[in-house]
Amino acid sequence: MIPVILSGGSGSRLWPLSRKLFPKQFLALTGEQTLFQQTVERLAFEGIQQPLLVCNKEHRFIVKEQLAARKLGVQGMLLEPFGRNTAPAIAIAAMKLVEEGRDELLLVLPADHVIDDQRAFQRSLALATNAAENGEMVLFGIPATRPETGYGYIKCDPNDASGLPEGISRVSQFVEKPDEARAQSYVESGDYYWNSGMFLFRASVFLEELKKHDPDIYDTCCVALERSTLNGDELLIDPATFACCPDNSIDYAVMEKTSLACVVPMSAGWSDVGSWSSIWDVHNKDANGNVLKGDVIAEDTRNCLVHGNGKLVTVLGLEDVVVVETKDAIMIAHKDKVQDVKKLVARLDAQA
Ligand code: GDD
Ligand code: MG
Repeated sequence: MIPVILSGGSGSRLWPLSRKLFPKQFLALTGEQTLFQQTVERLAFEGIQQPLLVCNKEHRFIVKEQLAARKLGVQGMLLEPFGRNTAPAIAIAAMKLVEEGRDELLLVLPADHVIDDQRAFQRSLALATNAAENGEMVLFGIPATRPETGYGYIKCDPNDASGLPEGISRVSQFVEKPDEARAQSYVESGDYYWNSGMFLFRASVFLEELKKHDPDIYDTCCVALERSTLNGDELLIDPATFACCPDNSIDYAVMEKTSLACVVPMSAGWSDVGSWSSIWDVHNKDANGNVLKGDVIAEDTRNCLVHGNGKLVTVLGLEDVVVVETKDAIMIAHKDKVQDVKKLVARLDAQA
């Protein structure tokens, strides 16, 4: 089994701490290690190879520094000149391995998630392995508990376990990022899992499904790989070809369409720490429900996240508010609105 770590996102919802040149996965948001280091360290168990990393070429030095700091290694780095989302990133990794005669199981992992319970993670993985070896595309499902619109929603068909090992169910519906009303109805029905963004499948199975459902991405990635340049264990994807590649995620391009999807439930303390409110969720709170980091004084303040990064930050009379201070920017938002931090980033991008 070969882990393929996807580390190309920009983590814009965690601005101003997460920046394009230093995104979320390279920050120690939840403990001593960065999310990227935690992801690689999580893979230190038997039966799994060193990971293959797919990331932006601008991040290769950060990656190397963070690996060296923890004496970690990868089996190679596929460097993207710019992001084209997860479907092309996984396609290039799968194509490269198949080309080398290594049509193995790929464990696709985001570089920016938290998993608290390592044993539960490995148990779900063990359950998934058999199914993936039999040609299934396995999703790891987290019971959906709130109407998050940033996730994929998976419904299983309990009556269709055809040929699947016990504990695994056929996916009857996969909906990527539904609107709020639909997300609400899915959660109320109790029949849906969230897609964790981790996948297990054989490289050639993914490529066949991609070819069937999004042949443009498949064809462009074939050519981009052919024209890529190898430098030691780093492969630089050809920019001119990759620029023509459609931008799409595995979720829209393949998982919503394939009939090979099945789900293994996972209860492993998963969080995608995708927004400031989920950072607040995963931290221990003080007696007032606050998470205070850095030099912070909070008075008459409840259920807030205040993150200082150098300056003294004082807050008074706040409830459900996020305050993040950095050297060159301060962000203050209501906790219910933090999904929209990316709108602020879009406005900054438009000004640049
Ligand atoms: N190499 C590379 N290139 N990696 C990328 C790229 C890219 O162009 N774009 C995103 N990634 C990485 C991100 O760094 C992250 O680790 C992972 O791929 C998933 O991308 P996100 O952009 O974070 O996706 P999402 O959070 O909107 O949605 C996905 O994850 C949810 C769970 O966290 C989907 O799979 C959803 O269905 C899922 O619920
Ligand atoms: Mg994400």
